[in-house]
This record gives sequence, C-alpha cells and structure tokens, in this order.
Amino acid sequence: MKTETILTCPACDSLLELSGQTCRCAKGHSFDRSKEGYINLLLSHQRRSSHPGDDAKMIQARRRFFDSGAFDPLTNFILHSSCIAQHSSLSILDCGCGEGHFLGALSGTRFGMDISKEAIRCAAKRYKDVNWIVANGMRKLPFADQSLDVILSVLAPRNPEEFSRILKPDGALILGVPGPNHLIELRSQLATHAGDFEEKADEAAVKCAPHFSEIHREILSYQQTLNAAQIADLVQMTPIFWNSSSEAKARVQELNELNITVSFVLLTLQRSDRAPPDL
Ligand SMILES: C[S@@+](CC[C@H](N)C(=O)[O-])C[C@H]1O[C@@H](n2cnc3c(N)ncnc32)[C@H](O)[C@@H]1O
Ligand SMILES: [Zn+2]
Repeated sequence: MKTETILTCPACDSLLELSGQTCRCAKGHSFDRSKEGYINLLLSHQRRSSHPGDDAKMIQARRRFFDSGAFDPLTNFILHSSCIAQHSSLSILDCGCGEGHFLGALSGTRFGMDISKEAIRCAAKRYKDVNWIVANGMRKLPFADQSLDVILSVLAPRNPEEFSRILKPDGALILGVPGPNHLIELRSQLATHAGDFEEKADEAAVKCAPHFSEIHREILSYQQTLNAAQIADLVQMTPIFWNSSSEAKARVQELNELNITVSFVLLTLQRSDRAPPDL
C-alpha cells in the first residue's frame, strides 16, 4: 500500500510516497527507512563533511543532560507555551531537533529533522511515533509548500525563507533562543567574551524579517545547581564552548557544583504575507 507524505524528494523536489519501508518519488528516486526508523534525505553534495552536525559525544551528553532533569522547567515552558498549547494536535516540524527531547515531549503529527545522523538515530531509537529525517536545514527543506502548522527551532540554525515556504499561511514559527544571562556563570569562566545575551531574541526576530513578523514573546529564567556530571555534559553539548581553552575547561571540570542561570526566550512569529484577518 502506498501512502502520500508531505516529504519531497531531495533530488527532484517531487512528493515522496511511502510504500513499506521505502519512500519513492514519481521519478523513481528512493530512500529506505533505516532499521531505527528514520529516513535519510541528505544527499552527499548537500553536506560539507562526512559527519555534519553534532557528533555522537555531543548527542550523548545532551541526552544525559536532559535526562538529569536540569532543563525540565525549560521543557515545561515550551510544552505550555501559548502557541504550542493551541497547536498541540497539528503537524509540527522541529528543525535542528538534536536527540529529540522537545519534540518527543509534544503531541500531534511530528517531524524531527537534523543534519546529524547520530542525533536522528538517537532520537529514533527512543521516540518511535515521530517521523525522523536526516537533512540539511540550511538548504531547500524536504517538505511540500504550506504543509506544516508549526515549525519549532530551538538553539538551531534558522532558514526563514524555507520556513515561510513550508509553513501553512496561518501557521506559526516558534524560535527558542538564549535569554538574558543564559549560562552566564559558565560562560564567564569558559568564553573570552561572555555577552549578556540581551539582544539575542531581537536579533533572531530581525533575521526572520521580512518573511516573518513577531506576534508573541515569552521569557523563562531560573537558577539551577548542577553537579559535576551535569557540568561536564553541559560543557560538552554546548557549541559556544567548542573553542574554549583546554585549561579553562579543565578548571571547570574540577568543580563539584555550580549554580547556573537558565534563561530562555520563546518567540512566536507568523508569516508576513499572511492575509489580514477579516474585520
Ligand atoms: C545546540 S543543538 C540543539 C538541538 C535541539 N534543538 C535541542 O535544543 O536540544 C543544534 C542542533 O542543530 C543541528 N544542526 C546544525 N546545523 C544544521 C543544519 N544545517 N541543518 C539541520 N540541523 C543542523 C546540530 O546537529 C544540532 O543537533
Ligand atoms: Zn525524485
């Protein structure tokens, strides 16, 4: 039996149909579902390295850190944000979903996409009823025009032009960005310049214009005491610490405890070309 999908072929852009464990387009390009259940739509010329995106160590650190509960208030914040609550039964894409923590906690018809095969493999092993896809979020996205109700992008690269193409006219784009002083205690020890992150949300909104206009902003901020294992995982999983000196990293790894600020802004945006409401 063939089932229509909203996925498109990365080779020719036509719609993919699912038949058994294979997605196939009308021109005969085909993509098998892996044994873990994900579909790899990343063609070799669409990536710069053979293992793009977060590597296995970063993914495992991120998985352990989420499992430790340190970001539970953040997860609840996203789950109960007004936009997600309104759209809970609809179709949602998490673009740059990592190991799938936030999408796994949501409901509805869910698509999780990441350029890292390790991330998607890890996500697919745990969350079975989500559609997991390996693809490059900064290229043409493998989704049909106007096929999604919500796009979520948390701490991941953003592609406003493509988001606008694949989102339904009345759909919502939700961006999760670091808020004021997010992780400042760790950043001041590990980064040469630890900015206050006051501007991050505004910068994200500006980057999404002219395709999107911001309609809502929610802010979460809390203090959390981390133990040594959580500190090590947070350092490992956070891209801004990649270039920190090994001396600074070693100093931080010696801490048994650290109190951190977790601060997050959720921006809800709508398509700028959306028809104005009837008066
Ligand atoms: C900081 S992590 C955030 C992951 C997840 N959103 C979360 O909050 O747990 C950034 C993610 O973006 C992914 N990524 C980086 N470049 C990408 C691209 N061009 N297309 C899709 N995903 C990308 C990485 O592999 C990584 O999983
Ligand atoms: Zn094709």
